[in-house]
Amino acid sequence: MGLLRSSVASILICAPLLASANTRIDRYAIVSRYNPHRNASSQTTPIQVGNGNFAFGADVTGLQTFLPWATMSSWGWKNDSLPAGKTQADIDDYKGVSWPSHGRDIEYMFDGEPLMMQWMISNPNRVNLGQVGLLFADGNGSAANVTEADLSDISQDLDLWTGIITSSFTYQGKKITVQTSSAQSSSAIGVTVTSPLLQTGQLGIFVDFPWNDGTNKFSAPFVGTFSMTSNHTTALRTGNGLGGNVQAEISHTQVNTTFLTSIGGDAFSIFRVSPSAHRYNILPSSQSSSLSVVVSYSPAALKSVPEPSAIESESKEVWNGFWSSSGFVDLYTGSTDSRAEELQRRVILSRYLLHVNEAGDNPPQESGLVNNGWYGKFHMEMFFWHLCHWALWNNWDLLDRATGVYAEWLQSSLERAQVQEGYTSGARWSKMTDPTGRSAPGEINELLIWQQPHPLVIATYDYRAHKTRTTLEKWKDVVNETANWMADFAWFNQSSSRYDLGPTMYTVAEDTNPNITRNPSFELSYWRFGLDLAGEWFDHLGEKQPSAWTHVKENLAPLPVEDGLYAVYDGIESDFWTDPTYINDHPSLVGLHGWLPLTANVSLDIAKATADKAFTSWNISNCWGWDFPMLAMSAARNGELDQAVEWLLHPLFEFDDVGMPVGGVRAPTPYFPGSGSLLYAVAMMAEGWDGSKTKAPGFPGKSEGWNVRTEGMSQAL
Ligand SMILES: *[C@@H]1O[C@H](CO)[C@@H](O)[C@H](O)[C@H]1NC(C)=O
Ligand SMILES: *[C@@H]1O[C@H](CO)[C@@H](O)[C@H](O)[C@H]1NC(C)=O
Ligand SMILES: *[C@@H]1O[C@H](CO)[C@@H](O)[C@H](O)[C@H]1NC(C)=O
Ligand SMILES: *[C@@H]1O[C@H](CO)[C@@H](O)[C@H](O)[C@H]1NC(C)=O
Ligand SMILES: *[C@@H]1O[C@H](CO)[C@@H](O)[C@H](O)[C@H]1NC(C)=O
Ligand SMILES: *[C@@H]1O[C@H](CO)[C@@H](O)[C@H](O)[C@H]1NC(C)=O
Ligand SMILES: *[C@@H]1O[C@H](CO)[C@@H](O)[C@H](O)[C@H]1NC(C)=O
Ligand SMILES: *[C@@H]1O[C@H](CO)[C@@H](O)[C@H](O)[C@H]1NC(C)=O
Ligand SMILES: *[C@@H]1O[C@H](CO)[C@@H](O)[C@H](O)[C@H]1NC(C)=O
Ligand SMILES: *[C@@H]1O[C@H](CO)[C@@H](O)[C@H](O)[C@H]1NC(C)=O
Ligand SMILES: *[C@@H]1O[C@H](CO)[C@@H](O)[C@H](O)[C@H]1NC(C)=O
Repeated sequence: MGLLRSSVASILICAPLLASANTRIDRYAIVSRYNPHRNASSQTTPIQVGNGNFAFGADVTGLQTFLPWATMSSWGWKNDSLPAGKTQADIDDYKGVSWPSHGRDIEYMFDGEPLMMQWMISNPNRVNLGQVGLLFADGNGSAANVTEADLSDISQDLDLWTGIITSSFTYQGKKITVQTSSAQSSSAIGVTVTSPLLQTGQLGIFVDFPWNDGTNKFSAPFVGTFSMTSNHTTALRTGNGLGGNVQAEISHTQVNTTFLTSIGGDAFSIFRVSPSAHRYNILPSSQSSSLSVVVSYSPAALKSVPEPSAIESESKEVWNGFWSSSGFVDLYTGSTDSRAEELQRRVILSRYLLHVNEAGDNPPQESGLVNNGWYGKFHMEMFFWHLCHWALWNNWDLLDRATGVYAEWLQSSLERAQVQEGYTSGARWSKMTDPTGRSAPGEINELLIWQQPHPLVIATYDYRAHKTRTTLEKWKDVVNETANWMADFAWFNQSSSRYDLGPTMYTVAEDTNPNITRNPSFELSYWRFGLDLAGEWFDHLGEKQPSAWTHVKENLAPLPVEDGLYAVYDGIESDFWTDPTYINDHPSLVGLHGWLPLTANVSLDIAKATADKAFTSWNISNCWGWDFPMLAMSAARNGELDQAVEWLLHPLFEFDDVGMPVGGVRAPTPYFPGSGSLLYAVAMMAEGWDGSKTKAPGFPGKSEGWNVRTEGMSQAL
């Protein structure tokens, strides 16, 4: 560790002791200050290691000994059996309903046959790849009945700088230490157990495999069932025929999907606990007091597994690089406001957890790789909140992993817009989605629209960071077809000579009638913003902006105003501010100036008055995690800086001891859009936004006790 942090440390040694404007931030000191420590398992959240595509959740033993926290990945999905009597062809031929919209019928993927629709919603679903725990043995290879209460002197630390968990405790007077780390370039953990109990056959490791029943929308806090052993099969192979240093390979089959678990490291013996169980016990072959193993998960057979020491070095190298070379915000060192400490803790732990859970080849689900919500699927309208912060913190390597889905799903999104829904041009992005890009059927899934401009924002950040022709070409088709559909969706209203958005559509808050929702304030502003960005893209490319884009954006319907405030949509009841129907979900009206920069047709005064009204009228106790940073960004852009900090630390916006964002009244824990939006808001408040005039424009100033320093960050739009 000392060596690894030398690049930062050596600079600090030469620097004057007092932090001055040009002293480098002591990143190691700040990061390690928030290393999580536990002395008991949490019943609600694991402590994790991982790499964005793979994560392993541990209890206080550093493994999944007493609590079956999940081992999940971006690639591990399976299908349940088809509904009785149905075939693959029935799935392919599924038809939804036709709804009239602006004088024509549009086919949407919902209703249709309820059984088929439900299968398509819940499949494919994400699986828990397996459990790895400490085996307490009786000396003869059988398991002893041990619970966490039988351990003493428990101490567990996660070293954020290296990504390694060290757990130690005493059992029957003998000390046990467990080191857990995750590979960074594959789906494997490295485990080193040290204890005299290994020498007497009283300690080993077990692996187990749950049945993942995909019919549950939420599988939290644990994923899968270990008692339904007849629903799935496992088979063990050892000896010849396995790849390189693989000593044992277990294949796990659920319905038609088989995943492999390959185990290597120090020599061991492995045996199945009973023919009907999927648990396998592992005992060391040598008399050594330490045992190192690697457990690696994959969809296909592996030629070899990394050595345990290689996993540790890879973990150290990647985490060291992550903390040392990407963006950094120091709120804590020079600030006297006591709130700075907790905000700094949230930032550091969120940075760790999002790298573990939200940096995969697919967009993340709301609960990352901790447990399953919405069947493990992801939501493209949440792409912004999960992932856009990576752009401001300059982690392009992590963000680029998932942005490829736009190019990958362009063809099916063109078909959704033009074949299924009968629009004349463009691509309509899906909402609730799986790695194939298929949209899960559902009224909201089909009728939401605010996911549409997201790629235009992400592409713009990419170009600002990488101002090359290659970037322009990379996103060209996605930008073009995204904007083409936005222009086509806007409907020219002859009587007003304006372009209307909707009906038929759902707003961000999903709580209005889609058949009468017309010209919602937030979506109108986002459309305008998106079409401006698409136009700029074509300017950079040297292409003429399509006249449809310019005509639509210049002639979009005005934002609806009622009593001097923006309304959720045109025609909503004027007393909506007191109607529980409309004030119990995302307060997206505050996003008009905050989350979004001020767009051409938004009045600064009305937007500010509307945000102030929302601050007091919305049912904040029913808000979702990302609403709080959205409220903070609104306060920040409106110059209400103390209020901005307050929103980020609101008592209902909680992060637990390891930094897991608490779901609160709306969703199970963790609800990671809370973390992603926190990092986006802090970046914006600390580094500023286009046109902001001061340093750290979203934070109160030095005289109010805030000394905010940044390194390697980018401004928000
Ligand atoms: C465990 O930690 C908590 C707080 O972190 C502390 O209150 C408690 O005394 C500790 N228990 C032991 C046995 O160390
Ligand atoms: C699940 O089934 C769908 C629809 O038939 C298919 O597109 C997808 O590839 C399957 N996924 C898995 C993991 O089997
Ligand atoms: C699983 O495979 C069988 C046999 O090939 C097939 O009939 C069935 O449709 C498949 N199930 C799923 C969910 O793909
Ligand atoms: C919206 O219109 C469709 C099609 O006419 C109808 O089936 C549905 O019930 C309507 N929904 C509401 C909330 O009015
Ligand atoms: C292990 O097996 C030996 C020989 O069968 C027996 O004497 C001993 O009691 C066993 N130990 C335990 C802990 O069950
Ligand atoms: C294991 O021990 C706990 C108490 O320590 C007891 O409640 C439980 O029934 C035991 N389980 C078995 C399988 O013996
Ligand atoms: C799983 O097994 C249970 C019995 O343990 C059985 O009732 C159920 O139908 C099985 N489900 C599936 C999907 O195989
Ligand atoms: C933009 O998309 C339209 C419709 O697909 C296409 O005709 C046009 O050539 C595209 N423009 C560029 C610059 O690729
Ligand atoms: C066209 O715009 C007018 C004025 O805003 C509105 O009253 C009317 O409902 C719109 N027409 C349709 C079909 O939405
Ligand atoms: C919106 O702003 C544009 C200028 O970009 C202007 O031409 C248009 O009339 C404005 N629309 C409304 C509804 O005020
Ligand atoms: C506000 O939200 C809380 C928490 O979900 C809920 O219990 C309460 O009924 C809501 N109040 C109103 C006025 O809708």
